[in-house]
Amino acid sequence: MKRVLSGIQPSGELHLGNYFGMMSRMIRYQNENELFCFIVNYHALTTIQDKVSLTNNTLNAAMDFISLGLDPEKSTFWVQSDVPQVCESTWLLSNIVNLGLLDRSTSYKNKLAKGLTANLGLYSYPVLMASDILLFGGEIVPVGQDQKQHLEITRDIALRFNKVYGDVFVIPEPDIDKSTKLIPGIDGQKMSKSYGNTIPIFGEEKNIRKKFMSIVTDSTDIQQPKDIDTALFHLYSLFLNESEKENLVNRFKSPGMRYGDVKNDLFECFWTYFEPYRKKRNYLENHKDFVVNHLKNGAKKASEVAEVYISNARKAMGLNYEIADI
Ligand code: TRP
Repeated sequence: MKRVLSGIQPSGELHLGNYFGMMSRMIRYQNENELFCFIVNYHALTTIQDKVSLTNNTLNAAMDFISLGLDPEKSTFWVQSDVPQVCESTWLLSNIVNLGLLDRSTSYKNKLAKGLTANLGLYSYPVLMASDILLFGGEIVPVGQDQKQHLEITRDIALRFNKVYGDVFVIPEPDIDKSTKLIPGIDGQKMSKSYGNTIPIFGEEKNIRKKFMSIVTDSTDIQQPKDIDTALFHLYSLFLNESEKENLVNRFKSPGMRYGDVKNDLFECFWTYFEPYRKKRNYLENHKDFVVNHLKNGAKKASEVAEVYISNARKAMGLNYEIADI
């Protein structure tokens, strides 16, 4: 049994790309592994500087995850800032991180290009992320392709720390699922909040239906076979097993298929798929105290693990001056 660990951005409305890209995979992990999962509200400070939004987004992300199947009894699920040892660890690690390592971060460069201010939080984002992973002994880290470099930075930091101070940290392995790497949005580009092309999972039926109806399609004549390397086909496939997928291929290849009909069917399929989750989500919305209790308990469990690693790191670095430790 390995320790699987990952952080989730509290970035607002949950969409299909989040779910099929990473969440569902993580939730599946909890059956055979030990799952550590947390909402990265410290990291979110680099982009959300509004008290109400950050608080709401944090709680919403927790409700999303629990309703989609994360079991807070079985797994360790918490909010990053409830285990503030990660901040101390960030400082400890900062002293072995060369600036060159952070200068090479493409994520940092992309964020600047998008107009974010070049502040220290944004720059040291990867060091905080390394703390997140190392302080809980994460062995496997499921992340999207865009986080690959951050994982390499974490490994670099851990190896360097262990070399300088002795074996304190576990070296984590990234787990990047190639098959679900790219989930298209309604315009055909990668589904992402920053492109404004997402399909939300929980929301008004009418609005979501509208999103499905506006998935881009080409103007192939109705009697001609349709291309299957398209957003509509790929999105639909997310909900299908192999034989159902074959049927869909046949449908695309047969004359007379109307995109509008397929979109309607896809919407129905989506709506049914998420029905039980939607019920759970509504329940949690009315029982926020239940959610908060789970998060606080999770933080307690996580904190016990973090304490072991941080105290080993302190000792290894010479920050302890108890007679017994000298
Ligand atoms: N940077 C990650 C993202 O944007 C979130 C994250 C923070 C994370 N800490 C982590 C992911 C630790 C995995 C492990 O998606």
